[in-house]
Amino acid sequence: MTSQATTPSRYYLTTPIYYVNARPHLGHAYSTIVCDAIARRKRALGIDTWFLTGTDEHGQKIERSAKLANRTPQEFATAIAGEFRGLWDQLGLSYDDFIRTTEERHKRGVQELFATLRDRGYIYKGSYTGQYCVSDEAWVDVAPGAPCPDCGRVTETVSEENYFFKLSAFERKLLEFYEANPGFMQPESTRREVLSFVRGGLKDLSVSRASFTWGIPVPDDEKHVVYVWLDALANYITALGYGSDDPADQARFAKFWPADMHLIGKEISRFHCVYWPAFLMAAGIPVPRSVRANGWLLFDQGKMSKSRGNIVRAETVQAILGADALRYFLLREIPFGQDGNFSFDALVQRYNGDLANGYGNLVSRVVNMVHKYFGGVVPAAGAETAAEIALRTHTESTLAEFGPLFDDLNFSEALKSIWVLVAETDGYLTANAPWKKPTDRTDADHAALQARVLATAAEAIRVITALLYPILPDAAAKVWRQLGLGELQDAAKSSFLTQLAWGGLNAGTHFTEPAPLFPRAEKDAVERMQNLEDENSRSAVEAASGGTANPEPSAPKSAAIAAPAEKPAPKAEPAAAPVAAAPVAPPAASAEPAAPQVPPESLAPGGSSPQITIDDFVKVELRVAQVLVAERVPKADKLLRLEVDLGYEKRQILAGIAQYYEPEKLIGRKIVIVANLAPRKMRGLESNGMLLAASLPDGAPVLASFLEEVPLGARLK
Ligand code: MSP
Repeated sequence: MTSQATTPSRYYLTTPIYYVNARPHLGHAYSTIVCDAIARRKRALGIDTWFLTGTDEHGQKIERSAKLANRTPQEFATAIAGEFRGLWDQLGLSYDDFIRTTEERHKRGVQELFATLRDRGYIYKGSYTGQYCVSDEAWVDVAPGAPCPDCGRVTETVSEENYFFKLSAFERKLLEFYEANPGFMQPESTRREVLSFVRGGLKDLSVSRASFTWGIPVPDDEKHVVYVWLDALANYITALGYGSDDPADQARFAKFWPADMHLIGKEISRFHCVYWPAFLMAAGIPVPRSVRANGWLLFDQGKMSKSRGNIVRAETVQAILGADALRYFLLREIPFGQDGNFSFDALVQRYNGDLANGYGNLVSRVVNMVHKYFGGVVPAAGAETAAEIALRTHTESTLAEFGPLFDDLNFSEALKSIWVLVAETDGYLTANAPWKKPTDRTDADHAALQARVLATAAEAIRVITALLYPILPDAAAKVWRQLGLGELQDAAKSSFLTQLAWGGLNAGTHFTEPAPLFPRAEKDAVERMQNLEDENSRSAVEAASGGTANPEPSAPKSAAIAAPAEKPAPKAEPAAAPVAAAPVAPPAASAEPAAPQVPPESLAPGGSSPQITIDDFVKVELRVAQVLVAERVPKADKLLRLEVDLGYEKRQILAGIAQYYEPEKLIGRKIVIVANLAPRKMRGLESNGMLLAASLPDGAPVLASFLEEVPLGARLK
């Protein structure tokens, strides 16, 4: 079974389907934007393209998240799936289909796939005891009680009678397949990781679960639900119509399968490069042509993720700088396949430098001058001089190199090559200064120079704009209109990129009125985006403070949150006054945390601590959380692992209080945590926050708590 390397006349590409346990953030938007750019370029090249995205809605993780939110899993999933789809629409992403794994068409297809695998002898029943990571929805090969090797969270021991897929039968076939299709998985780091995983030996895989119900029932054995990864991966075929009797669905499946590219995050390579091709081979279905893994978007040094609390929303960037700015930044700044940092400062710098002062300014200079000197009508360029030949040659070579770079997903270099051309066009204008008539130049000569220079610069802009269309669809459409070329969307439908060559802007074309493209971002742009993010996290808390975590966007409710800053809480209540409480701090380095030490000043109010201002204090985000899970950490007798609920999210915290608190007594208790503490690892587990407690003279901690009812997530200030 080999993938075909020929250029297809149709192209099918997919994003991963997103878990609906948390709202979308920039990390999710990244993969979807990359796919959107690819889909737009393919369509503009006349390739019949199908771009699929969607949501992954089953499994234990979603079931638990829904329970915490006091919703049914279906209600919960519907609300968050709506947020993903709504955001993709708001960003103008051009997906052709959005699949939800709770849809009938998907369930039917998954059951068909499961039955096929079973009928073909690749699924058998057995019993299983192993470690399961609920967060990754993955079986992991570690000792009971040990953390997940991928995410560091504690694994659960699962003992169930399950259905197994004969993955072991595919070890050799997969290795042969990778060998025959060296381009199947990229980047190289992914390829190496997958090869070493398969070469390490494949064990049969449990593909059903029996201890919870939120999933697709196994055909003819409804006590079991299909393992969420088999369910999820199948979306790529069920969305096309696999398992349907409808001839239109069957035709779509026949036309678009196998997929040309599954774009995924690097941490889910094993599922896409090992399990997925093995399932398909076993079912007798062709395997996808390629899997491409993107790196992670990092923010404040860590992978952007809800559980770390370091997310930025695409809506924020869109509101201040526009969707194109976000697309440009992600594709230009991060070499595809590598991890990349997101920062508001870098974003604004790129925006002002490359978009406002670069491309935007170039377009506005040329369009304005064509209006000023030629009444908005493109003049005939006349004969080329050396300067025009140089700019044309440069444009033609950019045109030749951009496609292969883009198609190789090397967006960053592809864009760099365009910006070299933008700078050159700018330099060409400046060098020829069509706005300045030297005294020794005749009027006729000057008019000829103006015509030549402006027509040539406008032509370079036309080519640049056409190439940029997949990345900056809104801006490109505006420029296209200003150049008098009509609607770019229409041009894109008639495969305008295939005919793109120097010389397409005819003399006599009427430019439309100039319109600003990328207005310069003011100094406060960063602050405005940060404020929007703060606002959002506050409204998430307020939404949660009604008692249930409401996954739907809701107008902020006025929640009573903690005591006002200027009113100090009574000294007797350790909870309300963080200054009077000694935090149960994580231990230094990798050592097990020591019992909290009592610094002398904590018993002597007004002691030796330096004074801080209110600005210092507000940097510490203290919030109310409820303990959901509390357990001892194996081989660490002072350490407890807690899972706490902040109303708007759950997270794991490690605390050195095991000698003072029985874990079971903590469950359900409302506590105070430092919510914006940088994550740190202890015993291989990540701690995302710190508990507040008063520290007694003998070192015993007394956890801060409340006498009145307080909503989860409420901030102490
Ligand atoms: N549901 C599975 C995928 C099933 S595909 C058949 C899943 N969902 S996820 O919501 O956790 O992640 C979806 C995608 O978002 C993954 O590709 C993941 O890498 C990506 N990202 C989530 N956070 C990210 C960043 N901070 N940066 C880049 N991509 C990130 O896994």
